[in-house]
Amino acid sequence: MRKAVYPGSFDPVTFGHLDIIRRSAALVDELVVGVLTNSAKTPLFSAEERVNILKDVTKDISNVRIMAFNGLSVEFAKSCGAQFMVRGLRAITDFDYELQMSQTNRILQSGIDTIFLSTSLEYAYLSSTTVKEIASYHGDISKFVPEEVIDRIYIKIGEKKSKKNKE
Ligand code: PNS
Repeated sequence: MRKAVYPGSFDPVTFGHLDIIRRSAALVDELVVGVLTNSAKTPLFSAEERVNILKDVTKDISNVRIMAFNGLSVEFAKSCGAQFMVRGLRAITDFDYELQMSQTNRILQSGIDTIFLSTSLEYAYLSSTTVKEIASYHGDISKFVPEEVIDRIYIKIGEKKSKKNKE
């Protein structure tokens, strides 16, 4: 059984991520999307929220499973019984970091290879960070994220702002 893990922060999932999920799921028997819980960055959405959003937006893809993980991606991939990890490459600016990470990961776990998919051109500019910034100014994010994400981002950003105002 060919199994892959697609690890990431997904804070929140964008059309770019979804593109990679659909295309990589078509290459394997099972794709596990791993949502990192112990990132150095403080996420807008909790791990549970990110998992639930991902479950909603991938419910039509039968061989995709969504799981939260903490620790090293390769250890998570090993625990899932995956042979591959998947990452998307948007532009040359992603390359240095991704290459370094895949080479280090291969030293940590020689049995797990990283497969890179080039992000579809229409999403090459897109990042979760940009989406959050646009949403914080009440901009239109409908071209960047699935419908299931839109209201959730505005609510979260509103909650964050009112919490900040109270401090
Ligand atoms: O969506 P992101 O933030 O680009 O994903 C980055 C992620 C989660 C893949 C990366 O930070 C990661 O693998 N973190 C877990 C710790 C780890 O395994 N670090 C890499 C060691 S080389």
